[in-house]
Order: sequence, then structure tokens, then C-alpha cells
Amino acid sequence: MFTNKDLFKTFQAQTFPYPSCLEIKSAKGSYIIDINNKKYLDFVAGVSANTLGHSNPIINNAVKNQLEKYSHVMVYGEYIQSPQYKLAKLLADNLPDKLNTTYFVNSGAEAIEGAIKLAKRATGRSEIISCKGSYHGSTHGALSIMGNEEQKTNYRPLLPDCNTIEYNSEESLEKITNKTAAVVIEIVQGGTGFITSKNNFLQKVRQKCNNTETLLIFDEIQTCYGRLGTLFGFEQYNVVPDVLCIAKGMGAGMPIGAFISSWNMMNLLTYEPKLGHITTFGGHPVNCAASLACLQHLLTSNIIREVKIKEELFRTHLSHPKIKEIRGKGLILSIELGDEKLTKKVVEKSLDNGLILFYFLFTKTSFRITPPLTISDKEIIKGCKIIIDLLDEKS
Ligand SMILES: Cc1ncc(COP(=O)(O)O)c(C=O)c1O
Repeated sequence: MFTNKDLFKTFQAQTFPYPSCLEIKSAKGSYIIDINNKKYLDFVAGVSANTLGHSNPIINNAVKNQLEKYSHVMVYGEYIQSPQYKLAKLLADNLPDKLNTTYFVNSGAEAIEGAIKLAKRATGRSEIISCKGSYHGSTHGALSIMGNEEQKTNYRPLLPDCNTIEYNSEESLEKITNKTAAVVIEIVQGGTGFITSKNNFLQKVRQKCNNTETLLIFDEIQTCYGRLGTLFGFEQYNVVPDVLCIAKGMGAGMPIGAFISSWNMMNLLTYEPKLGHITTFGGHPVNCAASLACLQHLLTSNIIREVKIKEELFRTHLSHPKIKEIRGKGLILSIELGDEKLTKKVVEKSLDNGLILFYFLFTKTSFRITPPLTISDKEIIKGCKIIIDLLDEKS
């Protein structure tokens, strides 16, 4: 007789040898509830995806209303579907002029794949430059530009002509030349533990891209939809990319991604060959309806303005001698303990104590805090206390 855990471990592909195996019954607001009715305060939000928390009625109603009308009807770009064009228009209304045309896909990695193809097509060049320590997704193109060798080695050969520069290093920029089709860069580096860009690095990359007629692609898959305290992270850096990739939080828990550029550039995907980029489910109307409802709510509420205040609350309540540094910005924070064993203990024991934290892909000495943007002050203080109490324990 299989237990549910057996079923999960036997019939579902596993990506990690030691999954937490938390068995979910339901989720509401900032909480996930397991099958034993134990409540867990969620400081991870589906890895920065549940922007408005779990089961938010705004999102649930948008999904239900759209399902009642129609679900999947035809591949992206064929029929006129109101959730798609309304979302594309609202995105354009809230982006700089040149980012006026959206191609919807299903995920972050797919947004990156589309952006890479677009850059090759627009420039006629093949070299793609990304940063050491970057994460852009797990599909082949995205993996090819990942800035971590260990994750790539066993999957070679990957895309040719992919090179890396150091994040935050001005000297590195000399590698960007007039052979480079695009530089793909995160506003805040995720995999390495939320390293923020410094010393006008993004502006310097922009300048170098201008000089070499290279396209600048921002990967805002994790930072879009308010997570850094502005609708898009790049707004804080006075730099506009040529292509913007978004996903995760834009779906408020539903799977959707997008790459956004100018109409002229995007139009290159329509000819030579026709159907230069196609997807069956990209821009799924139900997911676009969820994303549109989320965006409308973010634009008409105080949620984004409060992100900075919530960040400060985390920083104030996470003061402890064992916390070496708090990296990140807004509501993507990395708590650096400088100790792998302690990090593992805090993440595991927090779960026992009703708090969900999570690891990073490339660094083992810090853990992530990326809660729903709707998390309350009381919940922030409650979760921080669980962490501080664990750090107070003698190990
Ligand atoms: C910065 C960044 N880019 C790309 C991706 C890939 O997105 P997805 O998992 O939706 O393919 C992620 C996911 O963690 C990410 O954080």
C-alpha cells in the first residue's frame, strides 16, 4: 500500500534528493496549511510567485470569471483574446515608450529563450553575454547562459558563443563588442543570494551596449510586479533595456511569462520565416486574466509603496550577531549566516516551527525571504522571531 509520500517519491520525477515533503491541504493569504491542519507562515511565496498571497479573491475571481467565458481557444497570436490585449496594453502603459509590445509565454525560461532568439534575429549576431553567478532558467538556451559551470557540465554541448562577464565589474565590460548580440542581466542576481547591482553597473552596461549596438536584455523574472518596491526593478536605476523578460510574480500564482520589446523589433518574428516564434499555451487567457487582475490591483493599491517599509521591518527584526549580512532589496532578501550547517538548521527547524524559508541555488550559507507582497507587519514580526529564536539556540 502506497502512502502519499511513496506516490510522490515513486511516480513524480525528483529534482532534489531531500525534499521537505510538506503535504499541502490548502493555502490562504500568507499561510500554507498541511494535511494535519498545521499552519506555516510562508516567507517564500512559491519562490517569488504569489505576489498577492495565496488564494487571493482578486486572482481567484479573475480566474473563475475567465474560465466561465473561455479557456484555451487557439495558439498565441492568432485570435483576439481580451485578457491578452488588455494585459499587453496595461504593461505598455506602465513601461517606457520603446517597451510597447509584449509576447506572452508560459514561464521565465521561455521568456529568456524568446529574448535570445529575438536578439539574434535583430542583430544578425550570435554571441550572448551573461554574468557569472546568473540564473536565467533550466531550458537549453537559458542553461547555456547560466553563470554556473557545475549546473552546465553534464548537459553539454550547449549553445555556442555564450560568454560571461563579472557582475558589478566595470573592467569586464570590455568583453562586450560589436560581435555581441545581447547582454542578458538580472537587476538583482538571484541564484547567488540576491546580489544587487552597484556603482552604476547597469548604466555602464547600457552605455557599452549602446557603443557596440548590442541589445540589453533585463531578466526581471523575479523582480517584476513590485517586488523591489517599484513596478519594475529597472525603474530604480535610470536604465531602460531593449528587451524586458518577466514571469513568476506577474502571474500571481498562475504560470505566465513574457518578453517585451518595441513593435518594430518584435515584428521580426512575423517574417523570414513567418511564425518565427510560436507557442500553444503562451498567453493562456486564464493566466492573462490573473496577471491583469494582479497588475490592476498593484497599480491602484498601496502594496508597492509599502514594500520598502516592509523591507525595513525585516531588517529591523532580523538583527542578530549570527546574521552577517542581509542582501537584496525590497522583498527579496538573503540572510547571510556565513555557515552552511547553520543555514540548513534554520531552514529545516523553521519549518518544524511553522515558518517556510528556502535555499539558494548557488550559495549554501544564506537563505531566502521572498514573501507575498501582501504580508502583514504582524506576520513579518512573527516570522522573524522564529528565526531569531533559532539563532539564539546554542548549536
Ligand atoms: C532571474 C530568473 N530568471 C529566470 C528564471 C526561470 O524562470 P522559470 O522557473 O519560470 O522558468 C528564474 C527562476 O527562478 C529566475 O529567478
